[in-house]
Amino acid sequence: MCGIVGAVGINNPRDYAIEGLKMLEYRGYDSAGIGFLSDKINIFKDIGSPNHLDDILPSSFETELIIGHTRWATHGTPSKINSHPHLSCNRKIALVHNGVIDNANELRTFLLSQGYKFYSDTDTEVVVNLLEYFYLSSKDMHTSLTLLKDQLEGSYALAIINEDYPDSLFMLKKGSPLMIGKGKGFNLIASDASPMAKYTNEFIDLEDYDFGYISKKEIKIFDKNNNLVDRKPIVKDAESISHDLKGYPHYMLKEIEEIDEVVKRAISIYHEDNQYQFDSKLLKDLREADHVMFIGCGTSYHASLVGGRIFEICNNIPTTEYIASEWAFHPVIPGKKPFVILISQSGETADLIHCLKIIKEKNNVPTLLITNTPGSTLSRGVTYTVLLHAGVEVSVASTKAYAAQVALLALLSGALSKNEKMVVDLKDTIDVIDSIKNNLKQPIEQIAEEIKDHDNVFFLGRSFDYFLSLEASLKLKEISYIHSEAYPGGELKHGPIALISEGLPVIVFITDPTTASSMRSNIEEVKSRGAKVYVVATKSLSKKGDALIVDDYAHFLSGVAISSIAFYLAYFVSLKKGYNVDKPRNLAKSVTVE
Ligand code: F6R
Repeated sequence: MCGIVGAVGINNPRDYAIEGLKMLEYRGYDSAGIGFLSDKINIFKDIGSPNHLDDILPSSFETELIIGHTRWATHGTPSKINSHPHLSCNRKIALVHNGVIDNANELRTFLLSQGYKFYSDTDTEVVVNLLEYFYLSSKDMHTSLTLLKDQLEGSYALAIINEDYPDSLFMLKKGSPLMIGKGKGFNLIASDASPMAKYTNEFIDLEDYDFGYISKKEIKIFDKNNNLVDRKPIVKDAESISHDLKGYPHYMLKEIEEIDEVVKRAISIYHEDNQYQFDSKLLKDLREADHVMFIGCGTSYHASLVGGRIFEICNNIPTTEYIASEWAFHPVIPGKKPFVILISQSGETADLIHCLKIIKEKNNVPTLLITNTPGSTLSRGVTYTVLLHAGVEVSVASTKAYAAQVALLALLSGALSKNEKMVVDLKDTIDVIDSIKNNLKQPIEQIAEEIKDHDNVFFLGRSFDYFLSLEASLKLKEISYIHSEAYPGGELKHGPIALISEGLPVIVFITDPTTASSMRSNIEEVKSRGAKVYVVATKSLSKKGDALIVDDYAHFLSGVAISSIAFYLAYFVSLKKGYNVDKPRNLAKSVTVE
C-alpha cells in the first residue's frame, strides 16, 4: 500500500507535498514523511497521518526537489525509524517506496557483507542502499536504476532524490501505481492523479519496469528494454478526480449520498439511447461461456455474490464466486469454456493481480475487470474492462462503488439476455435510495444509538438479503470495531443460534417474497432467546413493529436499493463512538500487498 508524491520545480512544494499526501491517506496512514533537497537532503517524518506534517516541517523552505510518503506498514511496525523517506548510508540518496520487496532479506545480507548498516526494519532501506551501492561504482543514475531494477523482486513505485542531481527526480515502477503530472515549468509524480489535479490535467500512467526522471522541463521514460519511450499524457477532468468534500463532514457520508447519482450514471452510460452499450465482443464471449467465475475481495467479493446469483437466475449461466486470496491457492477454473469476471474498485488489489497472473499463465480464458479506476494495473492485464464511473471513492469503507458494482452486473446481465425489464427495475431502485436518504436517516441513527455499545451484532437474511447482510456486517465491523456476523437465516439452527443472548441486536433484511415467511420464523427463534430484532422490510412484506420499511423493488437489487441502510448504520455507529469514519484503524483503501 502506501502513497507517494514528488515534485520538481513547483512553486509551493511544501503545500503540494502535504496536501497531496492527505489525499493519498486512503492508501495508508501509519506514518508520513517528507524529504527535500536544499544544500543537502532534509528528512522530516514521524508516525501518524500526514496531518502531523504541518507541525514537524519547517514553516517555509525553498527547494526544487521534494518527495513525500504516507505509509501502511508492511515490513516493520509503524515507527519514526521505519517511516519514509529512507536515506542511504552516505545520506546522499533518499527515496520513498510503495510496494513490497520480496527478496529484501537476501539483498540486505549482501549489503551487510559490503559493510552497509541498517537502522530500520524496512525493505525500503535495502532498496536505497542497494541503489547507493550501484551508484558509487557507476557514478551514473541511469545505469544504477537499470541495475537496481534487475535485482529487485516484488513490487515497487519509487521516487528518488540524489544530491548529485539537484534538477532531477528519479522514478522506477513495477506492480505499484505511479503517475506523472505534466506541468508547465514543473513536473509532478504521485501514486494517483488526485494530489496533482490542482496543478495539471495531463497525466502519464507509468507501465511496469518503466524508469527515468522528471526535471522542470523534461520527462524521460525508459521501458523495460531500456528504450526511451514517448508515453502520451491523458487528460482527466478535475471533477472525476476531485477530493472536495462538498460541504459533507465525511467522505463516507458524501459517498453514500451519491449512490443514486452513481446508479443513474451507470444506466445512462450502459443503456444509452434505450440500448445496452457493452462491447459486442465481450457479450459474445460471455454468451459462449458455459461457466462464469467471479473473483473479488471484501466488498467487491460481496458484489460478486450478487452478480453471480443474478447471472444464474436471469441468464441461466452457472457461476462460481471466489475470494481472490483463497482461489490463488487452489486455482481451478470451473467449466469447459469459462469466462472470468474480476471485480475491484481500485483495480490495484494485489490478491487479484496474483489471480490474474495465474489465469493468464495457465489458461486462454477471456477476462473482464469491473473497476472504478481507468488505467489500473488490473485493467492492463484483462481482455475487457468495464468502468463503474462512480467518481473517486475516498473513504476507506467502500459504499457507492459497491452499489455501482451491483448495478453494473445487473446491467450486464440485462444486456446478455436483452432484458429491458432490468433497466426498469434498476430505475425503480433510485426512488427507494432517495426515500431512504430523505426519510430514514433519523430512524437509522436511532438504531445506531441503540446498538453502539454492544460488543456483538448479528445480521440475517436469505439469498440476496444474505449477501447484503454480509456487506452490512463487514461495514459495521470495519468502521465501528464492533464484532458482527452475517448468517443466512436457515443456518442459524446449525450452530450460531448458540450465540444469541439477552438483548443481542439482530438486524434482519426481508425483501424477497420467496424467503419472507422463513425469515419471519427465524425472527421468532432469535426473539424467543432474547435477541433485540430490527427488521428492514419492503412494504409488501412488512409487519407491524418492523424497524425500517422501504418501497418495493425487484428483490435481487437489494445491493443497489437498500445498501445505503447498511452503510448509514455503520456510519452513525462509528460517528457516535467517536472514531475516524473515513480512516478506520489498520486499513487502507487500496490493498496492494497479498
Ligand atoms: C471494505 C472494502 C474492502 C475492499 C477490498 C477490495 O469496505 O472497501 O473490503 O472492497 O479491499 O478492494 P478492491 O475493490 O479495490 O479490489
